[in-house]
Amino acid sequence: MLHKKYDFSVNDVSEVYAGPGGKLWELLMGEQIHVGGPEQTDVLAKKVGLDTGGDNTYLLDICSALGGPARQIAEIYGTKVVGLDITPEMLEEAKKRTEGKPYANKIEYRLGSGLDIPAHSETFDVVWGQDAWCYIRDKSRLIEEIYRVLKSGGLLGFTDWIWGPIDAPESDADYLMEFMVFPDLQTLDGYSKLIEGVGMKLEEKEDLGEDFANHMDKYGEILQGAKQDIIAGFGEDLYNEAEKGVLAWKKAAHENWVSRGLWIAKKP
Ligand SMILES: C[S@@+](CC[C@H](N)C(=O)[O-])C[C@H]1O[C@@H](n2cnc3c(N)ncnc32)[C@H](O)[C@@H]1O
Repeated sequence: MLHKKYDFSVNDVSEVYAGPGGKLWELLMGEQIHVGGPEQTDVLAKKVGLDTGGDNTYLLDICSALGGPARQIAEIYGTKVVGLDITPEMLEEAKKRTEGKPYANKIEYRLGSGLDIPAHSETFDVVWGQDAWCYIRDKSRLIEEIYRVLKSGGLLGFTDWIWGPIDAPESDADYLMEFMVFPDLQTLDGYSKLIEGVGMKLEEKEDLGEDFANHMDKYGEILQGAKQDIIAGFGEDLYNEAEKGVLAWKKAAHENWVSRGLWIAKKP
């Protein structure tokens, strides 16, 4: 199936994270707003070699949100991290949560877009992303920008939500994307082609669909368990909308319409 792009702008996405959306996702997933939390951060860290020399590494986290992964990487591996995010409210909160930490001097937060990365060419040893580039419409440009800011020999490591191996009926696909405010999802091979298309060597690609579906079950349970608190904090309409959306994503994950992937690639 030819997957559609959706008309959500960077501002639409930013509004979600500046408002109750960001808080709701934190409630479901924790302050690391990706599937699998700190454990998955550790998996990705090892795959990009932070466990063997992370203290000599300069890493860019594109879509760093509340800075949870940046703090973990700086604290555990001694890595110097730039967290880049387009939503000022997320960036401010990330800074607040980092202030006073013994490793705070290892982290710098920058306001900006992954589509126009505020950094010189050939700056970073590692470019990193977790479950966030689904919010970025122009993935070709994103991957070109990543290539530009990576040093020669540098690594790209990321996970993201993707279309699965089975096509969703069009109306379900539209609803899934509109609920999440996703302008574009890639497939496992779609991302691989973009990565290879800029001249990077793909070292690993993995479909994590089963784990994704299991986590969707968990998010459904957490949401329903927190129903009264969510209604008290955000209102009944928002709860009902969130429940409908999360249950739709849970179904889609179990039907293999959607999935989550991991990619590791090297700039020659
Ligand atoms: C799901 S959260 C990211 C979670 C984060 N990677 C983590 O693991 O904690 C999505 C974030 O992407 C940011 N974002 C969306 N579009 C962006 C863009 N074009 N450039 C930079 N950040 C963007 C949003 O502001 C939001 O904070």
